[in-house]
Amino acid sequence: MKNISSVLFALSLLFGTKSLAQTLWLDDLDLSTMEIGWGTVQARKSVEGNPLTIGGQKFERGVGTHAVSTFMVNLGGKGKRFSASVGVDDEAGDKSSVVFYVLADKKVLWQSGVMKKGDASKRIDIDVRTVKLLGLLVTDADDGIDYDHVDWCDAKIELIAPRTKAQLTVRPPTLAPYVLTPKPSDLPRINGAKAFGVRPGNPFLYTIAATGKRPMKFAAKNLPKGLTLDESTGRITGTLDKRGEYVVTLIARNAPGQSELDLRIVSGDNISLTPPMGWNSWNCWAEAVDDAKVRAAADAMVKSGLVNHGWTYINIDDCWMVKPDAKDPVLAGSPRDSNGMINSNGKFPDMKALSEYVHSKGLKLGIYSGPGPLTCAGFTASYKHEVQDAQRFGEWGVDYLKYDWCSYSQVAKDRSLPALKEPYAVMRAALDKAPRDIVYSLCQYGWGDVWEWGAEVGGNCWRTTGDIVDTWSSMAGIGFKQAGHEKYAGPGHWNDPDMLVVGRVGWGPQLHPTRLTPDEQYTHISLWCLLSAPLLIGCDMSTLDDFTLSLLTNDEVLAINQDRLGRQARRLSNDNVRQIWVKEMEDGSKTVGLFYADDGKRTPVEYFGPWTKKVKMKMTLRGVDIGIKGKFRVRDLWRQKEVGVFEKETQTAVPYHGVALLRVWGTEKQ
Ligand code: GAL
Repeated sequence: MKNISSVLFALSLLFGTKSLAQTLWLDDLDLSTMEIGWGTVQARKSVEGNPLTIGGQKFERGVGTHAVSTFMVNLGGKGKRFSASVGVDDEAGDKSSVVFYVLADKKVLWQSGVMKKGDASKRIDIDVRTVKLLGLLVTDADDGIDYDHVDWCDAKIELIAPRTKAQLTVRPPTLAPYVLTPKPSDLPRINGAKAFGVRPGNPFLYTIAATGKRPMKFAAKNLPKGLTLDESTGRITGTLDKRGEYVVTLIARNAPGQSELDLRIVSGDNISLTPPMGWNSWNCWAEAVDDAKVRAAADAMVKSGLVNHGWTYINIDDCWMVKPDAKDPVLAGSPRDSNGMINSNGKFPDMKALSEYVHSKGLKLGIYSGPGPLTCAGFTASYKHEVQDAQRFGEWGVDYLKYDWCSYSQVAKDRSLPALKEPYAVMRAALDKAPRDIVYSLCQYGWGDVWEWGAEVGGNCWRTTGDIVDTWSSMAGIGFKQAGHEKYAGPGHWNDPDMLVVGRVGWGPQLHPTRLTPDEQYTHISLWCLLSAPLLIGCDMSTLDDFTLSLLTNDEVLAINQDRLGRQARRLSNDNVRQIWVKEMEDGSKTVGLFYADDGKRTPVEYFGPWTKKVKMKMTLRGVDIGIKGKFRVRDLWRQKEVGVFEKETQTAVPYHGVALLRVWGTEKQ
């Protein structure tokens, strides 16, 4: 002991007490807990991987992120100074606007005011002595997160005494996933779309989705002429020549029993009468997608049992075509054949065979292109070849097309409404020539309020937002901003707040478990079902864990999304902490989502869960608020359990960032 203290004393004489001080760069800390609204947090790079640059000035060190972004550092009273140069990265779009804040123990120490692209960086250099928790925040300046690429450059913390990275990290307690969905019973239960649109003369494929013990046999009463049912697979195929509406009774039988369900088949102009359900390759594989991964997704759709809950589409996103400037020979080649028909790249040797494989499982195949010369990832797109591409997709047996704006900005005259609509109307006309029902999904990130005219240009769904990532700020930011869009959705035309981010995601080839907490995942699925949104699973299907599977196989929850009425939920109330959403159902009942969202207008302090959150928040559901007179019966959809009958109101405790999803029936004459 004596020796150590004399050594320390000698050291302090040599270097002074300062020798114990420490300077830490923000980009050296554990950034995995930094919340980000889009993309992935980057050390020493911008969010898109470019050199950090603010107002023309380059920085070697710092962190690139995207609003809304929060980060907490546990200084534990050992801090001295925090310094940084902050601003919008030059890679951001022109409409970017953000505000930076530095908080200390629930107090704002510094704020930037609104900063825009091109502004010179602002310098922070503040005393953080005695501060326990330091909070770094970038908000979207209340105008949405689009283009908000931001940098904390040269950001460093001086400490009066050393602290390890682990000591500096504030990690929210990890909540263990908890499964609410009960296991399906052995009795047959028919799930999936209860209304199905088809165009006369086009191939018909509808697979009866049913849970229950196998073997199971299927039958159908009143099947119109032209259609046949395979009694062992439950697949209905054929064509309907005439326009018309048919109510077909589907029957599923197994040893324990039998169940029936009426399917409304409408032969006419409209398809996608309920929101499409399926899988898309982007949120897991991105550019790493290939034929084997798509087949594996189809296999897993069946093997996991998801197909029995109504999941149908297997959609290839970007990167299946030739990449004109590719160095990799697998991606390179001639983008089109001598007739101008589009080629797939070496990772997709035979698209027709792939589509036959997917169809052989009772599933459907989706593909991706865009109106510009190139896709967002730089692959061949449909510009000036729209009719040929639609024809080729038809020949291949494609059932779904996501059509993504991307490089069309180079072609479009401007961003006026006619210019925004034009390329989508062109592809619509081309698809109409293909003798196949192809769900048409517009993707242009919500520009020009696409929800107001997506149906007019023939879209079956349209993205209302930029890309989702697996963080609360992205998912909740997108989901809760859908309020007000409800009047534009209905059978055959849906608002699309982007794909699901549960399970193992990651924009390939490296994947990670979703960063959403279990309660945030319940919110995600509940909200997307209430919103009548297309449900496209974004994770690796071959590594589905039990919790993720439970989120995707709750038939009472999925039935909310697939309800025949096709009414999107509206937001009934929002006190900035709690939100209530309500969806009208075909049988006259209402589905209500009570969310402890903590996502409304917030003070800077309120952006930080650890400073403000309660474990649970009491929420009240009142019959009159949702238009129910007198007593009402409530069912908890995740637990598939009756809650009770109530006079006027009922209360429930909702977990932080979680939801209570309730179906409510008036028990008196309304
Ligand atoms: C984006 C689109 C994403 C994904 C990606 C492919 O524009 O929003 O969902 O399709 O392009 O490059």
